Amino acid sequence: MRWSMQKLEQYHQEGFLLVPNLLSVEEVDALNMDVPLLLQDDDSGMHREREHSGVVRQVYNSHRYVPTFRNLTQHPKIVAPVQQILTNSFYVWHSKLNVKEAFEGTVWLWHQDYGYWIYDGVDSKLMSVMIFLDPSTLHNGCLIVISGSHLWGRQEHYSDTTTTSYKQWCIQKSVLKKKVREAEIRQIIGQPGDVLFFDCNLVHSSNHNLSPIPRKSLIIAYNDIDNKPRPVKKPRPDWVVSRVFEEISWSEEA
Ligand code: SIN
Ligand code: MN
Repeated sequence: MRWSMQKLEQYHQEGFLLVPNLLSVEEVDALNMDVPLLLQDDDSGMHREREHSGVVRQVYNSHRYVPTFRNLTQHPKIVAPVQQILTNSFYVWHSKLNVKEAFEGTVWLWHQDYGYWIYDGVDSKLMSVMIFLDPSTLHNGCLIVISGSHLWGRQEHYSDTTTTSYKQWCIQKSVLKKKVREAEIRQIIGQPGDVLFFDCNLVHSSNHNLSPIPRKSLIIAYNDIDNKPRPVKKPRPDWVVSRVFEEISWSEEA
């Protein structure tokens, strides 16, 4: 389950690492079987964001309500590398199913997750894990990242409320023009069961889904247990900044 020193070094140099086939076909099938529970309207407490067209764009906090998704947040194949990277105990900051429905899923603008998490009163001791539930292709809006951009440190962000239905914090164009080099952009193409680990300062974005296949993926963000949010002026709701500080525990054997 644990990564070699070489893999860990690669992660720290590039700010991300894609692990192909980390989950088995059976594990991905079990998650996909439960996806309808996340998409249907209910009063479970899961939070849903929609595209302008009305289709679901994101579902937050399935791990609190759906056992397959809860187990995923504690899966040794996922949390063993997270422990190596964060080097401390950690808890789930939030989880979200990003849906990107065929022909309807819209763009995510260039941003660093810590670009807005800083306003939640935490230091940059967080990271994310993206689990592919569908194929992720050039046409269905695969994630694109800038290799090594986590080393830029946090950049100023502004809030974009017009491009999509969802308020996005994104990096100023003037900064992007200065710092982004075409050769450093990587397309994260993969298959269901592949898993991407990435730093909270990695600059990333994704395009509109212009293809007939959806691009569903689950992103779990983890935070260092000693980095709980300090009081801030405008605390965001619990579905996006969890106040459940349950340390993740697992056994290497599982
Ligand atoms: C995100 O940054 O949360 C979304 C990126 C994506 O799903 O393409
Ligand atoms: Mn992001």
